[in-house]
Amino acid sequence: MNGWLAGLLAFVFFAPLAFIYARSFAGRLQAAALARGRSVVATAAPKLVWPAVLGCALALRLSGPDLPEWQLAAGSRTLAAGLSVLWFLGSLAAILFFVVIPFVMGRLLGTLFACMGKFAATRDDPLSFGARGFTREGFGEDGTESTQMGFTVAIDGPAAAGKGTIAKRLAAHYGFAYLDTGLLYRAIGRVASQRGLDLDDGATMGTVALALDPAILDDGSLRGREAGELASRVAVHAPVRAALTEFQRGFARRPGGAVLDGRDIGTVICPEAEAKIFVTASPEVRARRRTDELHAKGRAVDYETILDEVLARDRRDTGRATAPLRAAPDAALLDTSELDIEEAFQAACRIVDASLHRRNGA
Ligand code: DC
Repeated sequence: MNGWLAGLLAFVFFAPLAFIYARSFAGRLQAAALARGRSVVATAAPKLVWPAVLGCALALRLSGPDLPEWQLAAGSRTLAAGLSVLWFLGSLAAILFFVVIPFVMGRLLGTLFACMGKFAATRDDPLSFGARGFTREGFGEDGTESTQMGFTVAIDGPAAAGKGTIAKRLAAHYGFAYLDTGLLYRAIGRVASQRGLDLDDGATMGTVALALDPAILDDGSLRGREAGELASRVAVHAPVRAALTEFQRGFARRPGGAVLDGRDIGTVICPEAEAKIFVTASPEVRARRRTDELHAKGRAVDYETILDEVLARDRRDTGRATAPLRAAPDAALLDTSELDIEEAFQAACRIVDASLHRRNGA
């Protein structure tokens, strides 16, 4: 049989396999482009070198003329030597055609899909970038996309304003699911520093975010001061935030209601949240609370150091270019400087009740 015809038949025969690989490759490519903050084409280019070489080698090998004829046509010694190498690779590719053809076709097709924005990585796809990542199952989500009966309470505010305690109590009170989004950034900071990675390198941090194992969120020490500092540093990177967006949005719209607390929930993650609360308190009050909390745990810290930390964290969280900490225009402000936790919780309940009544048309 003519070599070209055999090649054509092989391409048709391997198309389904190539398509499966292309889907997975397209997903990984888009995730990698996102994590590195580069275009899909720039991310794909180095990954297309081998498919291009093997494709050309195979085409050369399957074409009619023999090597000496090609070398004669080449005219120069260097080109003739290059053709020999290509011919050798083509022979190998022809022997391993059942692997090479789906590989070449899959990568080319996958790049095309990625350029068209198709088959973006679903992180629960075991073939996709960052294998485990943030699967909905990993967080006990039921996986439905339905927004029926969804009700999102978005709570934002600076460190130590009391938003975590308020959010947790609201979730328990209304029977909503709760997500402390700060934990996600803390986990990324912790993993990156344990691996000795550069926390200021946004692309690398984005990759860490995509590959994060949800099991680490159970580590109680993530709630400590050090993890908070690391979190604040990695949270400035756009690839890190992008990697976490989809998961947080899925969580927010889960049926049955959800409370999320963080810095950008009402502004970026869930601008359409039914209830938005911006919890704040003066830096002095926040530093005092944090110092007392640490003293109660037996940690020897002084108020001035904690105040400096609180102010530095505020500066970083509000001053970053991507998703800075700020109140959404339609958020209810809750200043807890003069309130104890019970009063703050009751005030938050009144805000959520009002939103629930609005939603239910009362
Ligand atoms: O809420 P927390 O103290 O656990 O947050 C730790 C850091 O993580 C905080 O300084 C900023 C960052 N963060 C963020 O940028 N966006 C969020 N939604 C949550 C936290």
